[in-house]
Amino acid sequence: MFERSDVVEAPSDNTLTTAQKPSKDLPLPRDFVWGAATAAYQIEGGAFQDGKGPSIWDMFSHVVPSRTSGDNGDVACDHYNRMPKDVELMESLGLDVYRFSISWSRIIPLGGRHDQVNEAGVTFYNNLIDQLAARNITPSVTLYHWDAPQALYDRYGAFLNTAEFKADFENYARLCFSRFGDRVKEWVTFNEPYVISVFGHHSGSLAPGHNRATGFDTKTEPWRVGHTIILSHTSVAQIYADEFRPTQEGCTAIVLNGHMYEPFDSNSNADKAAARRRMEFYFGWFADPIYLGQDYPAVMRAQLGSRLPKFSPDELELLRKSVSLNTFFGLNHYSTKYARALPDPPADDDITGNVEEGAINSEGEEIGPVSGMIWLRVAPEGFRKLLSWLWKRYSIPIIITENGCPCPGENNMTLEQAVDDQFRIRYLGLYLDAISQAIYTDGVLVKGYYVWSLMDNFEWSAGYSPRFGIVHTDYKTLLRTPKKSASYLKHSFRHRRERNQHHI
Ligand code: GAL
Repeated sequence: MFERSDVVEAPSDNTLTTAQKPSKDLPLPRDFVWGAATAAYQIEGGAFQDGKGPSIWDMFSHVVPSRTSGDNGDVACDHYNRMPKDVELMESLGLDVYRFSISWSRIIPLGGRHDQVNEAGVTFYNNLIDQLAARNITPSVTLYHWDAPQALYDRYGAFLNTAEFKADFENYARLCFSRFGDRVKEWVTFNEPYVISVFGHHSGSLAPGHNRATGFDTKTEPWRVGHTIILSHTSVAQIYADEFRPTQEGCTAIVLNGHMYEPFDSNSNADKAAARRRMEFYFGWFADPIYLGQDYPAVMRAQLGSRLPKFSPDELELLRKSVSLNTFFGLNHYSTKYARALPDPPADDDITGNVEEGAINSEGEEIGPVSGMIWLRVAPEGFRKLLSWLWKRYSIPIIITENGCPCPGENNMTLEQAVDDQFRIRYLGLYLDAISQAIYTDGVLVKGYYVWSLMDNFEWSAGYSPRFGIVHTDYKTLLRTPKKSASYLKHSFRHRRERNQHHI
């Protein structure tokens, strides 16, 4: 399995091949919204400021030897202290939406339902939301983007104890809805349950870093964590609908991530089945219970047996009732991979569906040019196919809640070179074209697009090397400089939405 920290250091000419050029701005619907996304731990800094409690990322980024390339988020982009200027910057970029996450331990330092609220933390988010409103930028707020209060792991293993975690998450969500819900109308419960489960509790490359080598039970932990997330999401969606929606009139959703998978050998039935199975182990794991209100996919039950937790009849009933509370499918998508069926029985802690994944197929062809990270290749056709796959299976409107890439070698460039980010412009252009084709040719309902990310930031286990921003961050001076992709997006969205007027 790939590691999220694998960076492409080789310098490049910062372009894609001409064969990969985007079209001239294929149209998008007039009410299509665009924005930029961030996450608290990746940009805020102020890790120990104003009463914030430690999160699992504060701990994980300080372990010795380092598991985060020697970097940590103590200061990050110092957004916590520079927020008003950052919102000004967002306005200048022309964003409709700003997607950010709340740091749970900033507003409840110990995280639990009997613990104190940190008013200074609440004030920070209140100010941020007010600044956004003053500049006409719509907030999209994620409650959980990977930074659980450390105290919850210390007390009861956090996600590993479904009942305790769910109760604490419900309390935290209620606090957020009651303090911010008068102005926030788009709520995301969890960002990328797959990554929380697998990278946090199987490979251990992300916090809290559980893996087999460090003595954790990788056969069951990822599935228990996923189960906790599904039930906590469902319960909070129901709480919002019952207690807050009648007056606040907002909506709740969850953000799932995943690659598109193509068969390694397009003539092999085994590889075709492997690609399908990989998608079910990636998306179906969460999306079947949440959007279809039913049990995990049959292929998962068949392979995993008792390793996969069971939903009780009451839980299944709640899942069924909650399907319509999910107003959109939040999709984080970056790349496509080939899937090859493994000949031997699966490993005892397999999480893939017994599939090997890679970037090169049986003909020796690459899925697409590599970006600044090994796992992220430019493959817009795969994106288009994925949109159709999701639409056919779940028939729910999609918002792209993250998409973007670092340019190859970007971290070794001068500021002047880095802001001339032609590779990123092409990538974004191709992916936006894919959305247009999905909408107008394939009939998929896609309603918005949030680029990852507003600015270069702390890329988890890869530290500060990969630069995903449409704005450059100088980590010495903390100066922000918009890259050319920022103005590309501003103009391209205007143009694409105007072109729609002439489109049938
Ligand atoms: C996503 C994650 C983001 C960001 C992005 C780029 O999985 O939600 O926080 O790190 O990947 O790798």
